[in-house]
Amino acid sequence: MTLRLTTKTALVTGAASGIGRAIADAFVREGATVVYADRDGAAALEAAAAATSDAAASASADGASGGRGVAVTMDISDEASVEAAFAALDADGVVPNVVVANAGVQLFGHDAKIADVSLETWNRTVGINLTGTFLTVKHAVRSMLANGGGSIIATGSPTGLNGEGSEFAAYSSTKGGIHSMVRATAMAYSRDGIRVNTVVPGYTETPLVSAISGDAESRAAITSRVPLGRPGTPADVTGIMVYLASDESSYATGAIFTVDGGMTSL
Ligand SMILES: NC(=O)c1ccc[n+]([C@@H]2O[C@H](COP(=O)([O-])OP(=O)(O)OC[C@H]3O[C@@H](n4cnc5c(N)ncnc54)[C@H](O)[C@@H]3O)[C@@H](O)[C@H]2O)c1
Repeated sequence: MTLRLTTKTALVTGAASGIGRAIADAFVREGATVVYADRDGAAALEAAAAATSDAAASASADGASGGRGVAVTMDISDEASVEAAFAALDADGVVPNVVVANAGVQLFGHDAKIADVSLETWNRTVGINLTGTFLTVKHAVRSMLANGGGSIIATGSPTGLNGEGSEFAAYSSTKGGIHSMVRATAMAYSRDGIRVNTVVPGYTETPLVSAISGDAESRAAITSRVPLGRPGTPADVTGIMVYLASDESSYATGAIFTVDGGMTSL
């Protein structure tokens, strides 16, 4: 079996849980060295260790060389934390040529229609989702400019594309901002060997959306708006992420890839 990411070193933010963990695990399975970056350092360490031991077990079973996971504690909303994480990795000879800016929050119970959003909820959401993505991408670009380029992928959302986020003014605003940031960054560095793309998952059952998945009525309502008729799983987006991390996607930049069960085509 030929692994697709054996020449890649990837950093995935929010890799301790949900979609980020599934992406990081898929990259390790494809032979990459993967930095599990999360503000929850203990959970990132546990996830990285589990992926490394799974890869070693399957490598010895089929003779292929597996990847490995390492962990770093990183709060994407804090520039000192992001800078320190990249510097510590660099000092260890771990230089990412793939960065997935994936970490994010959705403040159920606080985020709402815009007239009902407090400034505190707005600032917390923007500080993590939009400023955190900015800081991740900024330091990823700096590192890639010094090290021969790479592929940056951001996790967007249907709420940044259409009216799906009417009840979540702060969250959907940050996701629209991320989609624009990706296009601007892709154009700015298109001649520097840096590609930047967005992946838009649909409704995906992770801890982020437990307020919906735990409530039968809300779950049925959102699933009824998915043409393929079921909620997404984190595994549903790993294929596009592996493609964008690999050189198979060398002609793709500035694009939005929706993997949402058809939701945004409705
Ligand atoms: N679940 C969905 O339905 C869905 C749909 C579309 C897009 N998304 C996006 O996918 C991404 C991942 O979401 P998920 O569903 O896997 O959520 P999740 O809650 O399962 O995981 C989010 C991870 O991000 C980490 N994190 C949060 N704030 C952080 C910070 N400041 N610094 C570093 N790490 C931080 C958390 O510790 C957690 O490990 C988010 O950007 C989310 O907006 C999710």
